[in-house]
Amino acid sequence: MATWDLSRTNHHILICNGGSCMRKSAEEVTQAIRSEISRLEAHDLIHTTRTRCNGRCEDACVVIVYPEGIWYKDIGPNEAPLIVQHHLLEGKPVREFVSHEYALHGFERTKGTIRGTNKSEK
Ligand code: FES
Repeated sequence: MATWDLSRTNHHILICNGGSCMRKSAEEVTQAIRSEISRLEAHDLIHTTRTRCNGRCEDACVVIVYPEGIWYKDIGPNEAPLIVQHHLLEGKPVREFVSHEYALHGFERTKGTIRGTNKSEK
């Protein structure tokens, strides 16, 4: 059990630990992100949460960063520390792995990211 003081937290990372992402090294991605946060002594600034499936399995492994609302795709253990170093601490998202970014009217999909199934068409 844990009850963290979030008063200094400025980023929340959701690390997908759903089945498809777990088959693509989500455990190693989770450990790599948390190790980098430890290495940089950034625990108070960055909160991480393991999640179940985020509904974008083709993009596995998925990592999501708030408050920006940036969704990353194809993240492996080598890319994971870059999210901490560049996005979370320097404010520069790792553009080559962004799949979606929140805009005022909704999430915008980046070039090369598959659209997926429209929920209302199902
Ligand atoms: S298991 Fe990660 S998006 Fe589905």
